[in-house]
Amino acid sequence: MKHFILTLLCLLSVALKSVAGEQKIIRISTNQIDLILQVADNGRLYQTYLGDKLLHETDVKALADNKAGQQGWEVYSGSGNEDYFEPAIAVTHNDGNPSTWLYYVSSSSHAVEGGVQTDITLRDNRYPVDVVLHYVAYPAENVIKTWSEISHREKKPISLSRYASTMLYFCRSAYYLTEFSGDWAKEVQMSSQQLHYGKKIIDTKLGSRSAMHVSPFFLLGLGEPVSESEGDVLIGTLGWTGNFRFTFEVDNLGNLRVIPAINPYASSYELEKDVPFITPEFIFTLSKGAGEGSRNLQEWARNYQLKEGKSPRMSLLNNWENTYFDFNQEKLVGLMKEAKDLGVDMFLLDDGWFGNKYPRNNDQAGLGDWDENQAKLPDGLSALTKAAGESCVKFGLWIEPEMVNPKSELFEKHPEWVIHYPNRDAYYFRNQLVLDLSNPEVQDYVYGIIDRLLKENPDIAYFKWDCNSPITNIYSPYLKTKQGNLYIDFVRGLYRVLKRLQENYPDIPMMLCSGGGGRCDYEALKYFTEFWCSDNTDPVERIFIQWGFSHIFPAKAMCAHVTNWNRSASVKFRTDVASMCKLGFDIGLKDLTDDEIAYCRLAVSNWERLQPVIMDGEQYRLVSPYETNHMAVNYVGKDKRAAVLFVYDIYPRYQEKLLPVKLQGLDPDKRYKVEEINLMPGTSSGLRTNGKVFSGDYLMKVGLDVFECRQLHSRVIELTVQE
Ligand code: DGJ
Repeated sequence: MKHFILTLLCLLSVALKSVAGEQKIIRISTNQIDLILQVADNGRLYQTYLGDKLLHETDVKALADNKAGQQGWEVYSGSGNEDYFEPAIAVTHNDGNPSTWLYYVSSSSHAVEGGVQTDITLRDNRYPVDVVLHYVAYPAENVIKTWSEISHREKKPISLSRYASTMLYFCRSAYYLTEFSGDWAKEVQMSSQQLHYGKKIIDTKLGSRSAMHVSPFFLLGLGEPVSESEGDVLIGTLGWTGNFRFTFEVDNLGNLRVIPAINPYASSYELEKDVPFITPEFIFTLSKGAGEGSRNLQEWARNYQLKEGKSPRMSLLNNWENTYFDFNQEKLVGLMKEAKDLGVDMFLLDDGWFGNKYPRNNDQAGLGDWDENQAKLPDGLSALTKAAGESCVKFGLWIEPEMVNPKSELFEKHPEWVIHYPNRDAYYFRNQLVLDLSNPEVQDYVYGIIDRLLKENPDIAYFKWDCNSPITNIYSPYLKTKQGNLYIDFVRGLYRVLKRLQENYPDIPMMLCSGGGGRCDYEALKYFTEFWCSDNTDPVERIFIQWGFSHIFPAKAMCAHVTNWNRSASVKFRTDVASMCKLGFDIGLKDLTDDEIAYCRLAVSNWERLQPVIMDGEQYRLVSPYETNHMAVNYVGKDKRAAVLFVYDIYPRYQEKLLPVKLQGLDPDKRYKVEEINLMPGTSSGLRTNGKVFSGDYLMKVGLDVFECRQLHSRVIELTVQE
């Protein structure tokens, strides 16, 4: 038997060498980017180029000839090989050997929606371990999505301790990284640093509310710091709703490798024979300036990744900050009337509607018991969906189905369904624990919650799916001796539930929420139409938070609500900030004057009318709040016939020099009428240019004087093509 295996391995390595002899070149291209891979003389696969697209096919060949035989940038470098830097994959084989050397076997390409998928198979020449590298190139959007698949046929499970989605290399004079970190209520604060020799790691080990401290995306300035409209920029994001890790390693020669991956922290993964380990998708674009890169990702997401990416979004009234847990049927019916009065599409009932033995009257009890609380809602959810119908608004519902309070009937009945140590005191985050989604029985239970709610109340039109706790007390009663699989299998269990839901209820829009923006990634957004950016709705903070998220996501994926945070900002200012994203309200009309209510109604109807521009148009970040005391952004409709400019004077200095705002993305030869909209009743526009017509060229080169030295002052300006 041993002899047979050895012969087989020899044959295999001969086969591999003959393929290598052909110097196989694999070109993964969009309209503007080339990623070129090549099999070297040793039969292994190397990255030879990643950058602006090469115009001539002959140059691809020239590149291959120049680089032939060179080693160093192995596409999926394995542990224990001759490369002394961070590997993509590390396997401990059945015999204890920790090395993995991967050789090229084959590759193929085929068309997929919007692009071309290339699959490359690599194989270890000493162990039956395969890695398939997948790349989908989206030519029009200049986006490449890549992931890997590891599998084996060793007798017993192998242990994986590195499992990168991909590896990318750069050879530039300098590298500048922008990360998006923060905390609850201060998500995606942008900070930048130059990378020097060694590693910079951005990672999280929070498990479920994984992006609470740092989000799964970054900007990388290649050769110079990231700027909005010039210089080479890589924008990358990992589609993984769990622990992620980006490793940026500058080596001894000043080259940079970028390794996006699931975080291997406490996750030595036991992989069974013939079961593929599929890594998350890493999605990236290369652009001239971050603005273009963001537009690439936004358009790609709307076209291919985001649930209902091309459909309009519903404006809403949420009751959370208005009532917290203190409501009853009558109060809610009153709020539905307010929703109608505002002109929004939906009323969203938040936390606190469930639990009887342990009523959900605060955040200490009831999670897990998804029956209507009889004291608050004696006629159940059906009475609420009916009342919503009578008010001509849709009805949405908050759930947090992955969680349980120890004070719940669910925990009493099924403690074995909960992630917690068998032999230590439990510690809590928001008084709750996380259900063990690695357990198929628990997956069925979680799916069953939503399935039952929808079967009993088919008029539920929307869910807000919350997740307020990181994984605490990390131990799975189900996985027993395979605890290293828990962080990963939890996320896969979640996806299984979401996939099932998508298959059976494809039309239900959902908001992804995690105590604010603690979950914000493109794998989850295959199942969610939008996400809640932050519990911080102070419009000043929101300007920064929305600015940050806009680097990766389109406006229609980002929920923004008008609330009472920062009452020193006018209702107009608060509403104008929320109108840049998916507009909602979380405020009682009793808190507003008649003029303010009239203003909100106007803003809602303008937002609904302008959805094709704001939600689906191209976004241009014009003036950064990080660099000035102002902010400006404009959206341009697909046909360039309409645009909307949002401008904010945040805290300008006394007699500060004000520059005109130059718009972007317009048709230079078209003539646009400038009209300030979203004006408070009884006020008129103070703009000298209001009502005037200018060419797109003028608006982009000369610009409009729209800033003022007034604190917390905002303007929304509509531009419409004149025939
Ligand atoms: C956290 C969310 O971010 C809030 O919007 C709200 O839904 C609360 N959870 C409810 O507990």
